[in-house]
Amino acid sequence: MSKKPVRVAVTGAAGQIGYALLFRIASGAMLGADQPVILQLLEIPDEKAQNALKGVIMELEDCAFPLLAGIEAHSDPMTAFKDTDYALLVGARPRGPGMERSDLLAANAQIFTAQGKALNAVASRNVKVLVVGNPANTNAYIAMKSAPDLPRENFTAMLRLDHNRAASQIATKMGVAVGDIEKLCVWGNHSPTMYADYRFATVNGKSVKDAINDQDWNANVFLPTVGKRGAAIIAARGLSSAASAANAAIDHMHDWALGTGGKWVTMGIPSNGEYGIPKDVVFGFPVTTEGGKYTIVKDLPIDAFSQECINKTLAELQGEQDGVKHLL
Ligand code: NAD
Ligand code: LMR
Repeated sequence: MSKKPVRVAVTGAAGQIGYALLFRIASGAMLGADQPVILQLLEIPDEKAQNALKGVIMELEDCAFPLLAGIEAHSDPMTAFKDTDYALLVGARPRGPGMERSDLLAANAQIFTAQGKALNAVASRNVKVLVVGNPANTNAYIAMKSAPDLPRENFTAMLRLDHNRAASQIATKMGVAVGDIEKLCVWGNHSPTMYADYRFATVNGKSVKDAINDQDWNANVFLPTVGKRGAAIIAARGLSSAASAANAAIDHMHDWALGTGGKWVTMGIPSNGEYGIPKDVVFGFPVTTEGGKYTIVKDLPIDAFSQECINKTLAELQGEQDGVKHLL
């Protein structure tokens, strides 16, 4: 017997990430090959964006996905988020060449306040929210604060792209299969200050840190490469990462909904004070997931170098939070 369809809202649906994301959601890559979905797609009311959305919908129809149980186009979050079980908040203004995420803070704060309020008013009470639009952690914080009637732990930000980038760099450095790397995590903000941490990582049970054994490579090659990967892609493509970002969003939601079977992944989630991160800061943490819930991996030792990195990314996030305080 087939399952009841779930509602998946995606904002910025006619954008680059949307184009790489929707077809995979509809194919079952996100929620499983037995889970029908209804797509509730939100774009700005602008005629060009709505027309582009119509085109994307025509293409979705032409794929004849067996799991696609419905498609809706919206220009108002109050209708787009109605009863939604999953919300992928992608729509935002992307960073162009030479711009920093902080430049986008104020413009995006408005978007995420309105969308948080709409989720609060009309979404399923169990809605799982993933914020992709930058600055993702702070946008997730804003949406969470604007939705006081929904569980705060249901608001998450995407650190999975950083996690996947880190895994790929380590696999290349060690000459191992990326899928064999376990217990990797990325702490903090989705920005160049994030701290990708392979101290606990293993490949087939063996320590990655011991195998690499090169703190200079860690501090001066690995961390800057992962941290500035977004900017490197913008410089090369003239556009921000899209397919890899969509893939990370699929991974994040898939693992949250369906479980990681004990494997660590990184999610940006509101802190409850773990590792000294103040309550409510949306921070990248190592988690495992089961039954639709995530649990932070606890009691990991934090050495002096790691603490310094964590302090730096936390300070940046707190600065971003201060910058939007007056809007909440
Ligand atoms: P894009 O400009 O191609 O698409 C964004 C779309 O969002 C546009 O179609 C736009 O009309 C729409 N939009 C804007 N405001 C909206 C609103 N209020 N409601 C609904 N739709 C709205 O951009 P993109 O390349 O798809 O990137 C989207 C966002 O994702 C950017 O903020 C980008 O920086 C971010 N991003 C995050 C990560 C991450 O790892 N967290 C990775 C890559 C990109
Ligand atoms: C990325 O990491 O690729 C995105 O967040 C785009 C950016 O602005 O860096």
